[in-house]
Amino acid sequence: MNNNIALVQLQLQKLRQQITQHNYHYYVLDNPTVPDAEYDRLFRELQQIEQDYPQLVTPESPTQRVGAAPLKAFSQIMHQIPMLSLGNAFEETEVEAFDRRVREGLSVDAVEYAVEPKFDGLAVSLCYEYGILKTGATRGDGNTGEDITLNLRTINSIPLYLTAENVPALLEVRGEVLMLKADFLKLNQRQRAKDEKQFANPRNAAAGSLRQLDPAVTATRNLSFFAYGIGRVEGGNRPQNKHSDVMAYLVASHFPVAKECQVVTGLQALLTYYHEIGTLRDDLPYDIDGVVYKVNALSQQEKLGFVARAPRFALAHKFPAQEAMTKVLDIDVQVGRTGALTPVARLEPVFVGGVTVTNATLHNADEIKRKDVRIGDTVIVHRAGDVIPEVVSVVLAQRPAQTQSFVMPVQCPVCGARAIRLEGETVARCTGGLFCPAQQKQAIIHFASRRAMDIEGLGDKLVEQLVDNAIVRTPADLYKMGLAALVNLERLADKSANNILAAIEQSKQTALARFIYALGIRNVGETTAKSLAQYYGSLDRLMDTAIEDLLLVPDIGPIVAQSIVDFFAEPHNCEVIEQLRLSGVCWQEHEGKPIPAAAETAVSGKTFVLTGTLSNMNRDDAKEKIEAQGGKVTGSVSKKTDYVVVGADPGSKYDKALNLGITILDEEKLQVLLQ
Ligand code: IVH
Repeated sequence: MNNNIALVQLQLQKLRQQITQHNYHYYVLDNPTVPDAEYDRLFRELQQIEQDYPQLVTPESPTQRVGAAPLKAFSQIMHQIPMLSLGNAFEETEVEAFDRRVREGLSVDAVEYAVEPKFDGLAVSLCYEYGILKTGATRGDGNTGEDITLNLRTINSIPLYLTAENVPALLEVRGEVLMLKADFLKLNQRQRAKDEKQFANPRNAAAGSLRQLDPAVTATRNLSFFAYGIGRVEGGNRPQNKHSDVMAYLVASHFPVAKECQVVTGLQALLTYYHEIGTLRDDLPYDIDGVVYKVNALSQQEKLGFVARAPRFALAHKFPAQEAMTKVLDIDVQVGRTGALTPVARLEPVFVGGVTVTNATLHNADEIKRKDVRIGDTVIVHRAGDVIPEVVSVVLAQRPAQTQSFVMPVQCPVCGARAIRLEGETVARCTGGLFCPAQQKQAIIHFASRRAMDIEGLGDKLVEQLVDNAIVRTPADLYKMGLAALVNLERLADKSANNILAAIEQSKQTALARFIYALGIRNVGETTAKSLAQYYGSLDRLMDTAIEDLLLVPDIGPIVAQSIVDFFAEPHNCEVIEQLRLSGVCWQEHEGKPIPAAAETAVSGKTFVLTGTLSNMNRDDAKEKIEAQGGKVTGSVSKKTDYVVVGADPGSKYDKALNLGITILDEEKLQVLLQ
């Protein structure tokens, strides 16, 4: 241990500076200068020295962001300069009127404005005394807010002390605390994994996190801060002339500010900025609810002054709200192209996200249950950009008496076939397969595809026309179709119609494996179809088989076996197959032969769970490959899981795997294992 306190002091100072600098690059500039490991090393070194010399610990040390014990309640803090609100505009005419008032008030022809995004978070004020962060408070009533200093200290992008030269004796920094969209999604994923309450949107998540009495909880929430102005300043170097100077000063003082700030002149430029940011909105890392226009010259701001609680020199130009309240008139179940049943709320029309919304997705049975959405409920609907509108939550206080929980149907609402939900899947699916109109197009496109029946010229567009015109409903109808029906379709010449009919005729001679694959049985890809053809040798034997027998086929696990049995248990499917055979679709059959079990591999006997999007293969392929080597793929992570394969944007399964300490594989590692 170094006994020379002065030397230790120096070393501490240097470490703190280094770490603060790295923090700044990482959290504010979003451009880390050192690897995480190096940062961690410095941090641990600092922690160690501080442990050895507790008398040298200062509140500004980067180790002291989360230090204090939970509070009993927040106390009040008076702002040195009140925190005001902004006048709102929704229409361009209101912006026009604002610009006119400003020009007239200043007696000028054109005004220079600082323009910024309007963050959808919570306003806070940070108070620095001689460069050291002393207090932080919510806006409250504008004059007095709650003391949330301990929580604000946990936000890594907020400087604990200022390093600029000649810092003011007092500096109030104003800005917004928010949660980045990405951090919000991760937080909700973690909450789901822990079976804890999820947040409706990033703003609520940020508010809930700031309101924590225990700063240790806030510290886990990854909040962000963006500065947009200053309050009182006493002494030191201070920006004199323009709001844009204030922003530059904040940047130089290492505060995060929005990258989208600009200085523009005149009304037209304001509107252009509004539309520019509007198109960027969904791609920004944080939620915004509009843009803010501020007269740039501070002298002009002063001249314009205030009305009531809002400045005359600034205006918030709001975007159409992305959330609105409305009533659930009914809940329908839609059948997607793959047979997935999606519950959809039919809504009393409501204007949200710039359009009138009458339907919103409820995703699946689990989501309905979690949100407990009922017919008659008042709900909050969210619509962002081109995203499908969704029901975020129910306003329970407005629930009418005698509502009932919604129950998913056990039959497909389109074709009446059984709807089943396989183990580990979130959605229920219609088992109607080839018969269900909702799935017909997709089934026919798959049936005709190159690796299935290989009907050249029968593309997606044509299939759509055929189904829409009720010429074809099932793959069997393709073989009954005449020239007349085809040439009646738009844009189809005699010659191509004849070519297609010839291709259909030609496809009748096929192979059993192709035919099985063409049926589009869930979870039966090409490889599985080949194994089935080899093992059974005849379609009838396959159709009559039982799960126990299917499990003897080397690459077939319980889920695939179940899908096969379900498919052939559906009378409609058997009917279509019968018709296909009657039309002359045929293949060579044989005795069938047992396939030797795959050799012991790293995969055989192991249980896998897949989560997230894989880039080089889709999940079905991955599953097929794992099963081909005798591995098992299940839908949920448990102690029995051997590997969790993680792609991009993984779900809560990833968190669960981490919690249980299960081996995580990325796509590359999976490939290696499969080899
Ligand atoms: S300036 C005197 N700039 O909007 C004007 N406010 O309605 C003080 N807000 O509570 C505010 N983004 O939380 C300003 N770039 C921005 C902002 C912004 C969001 C919020 C702020 C305030 C509310 C005013």
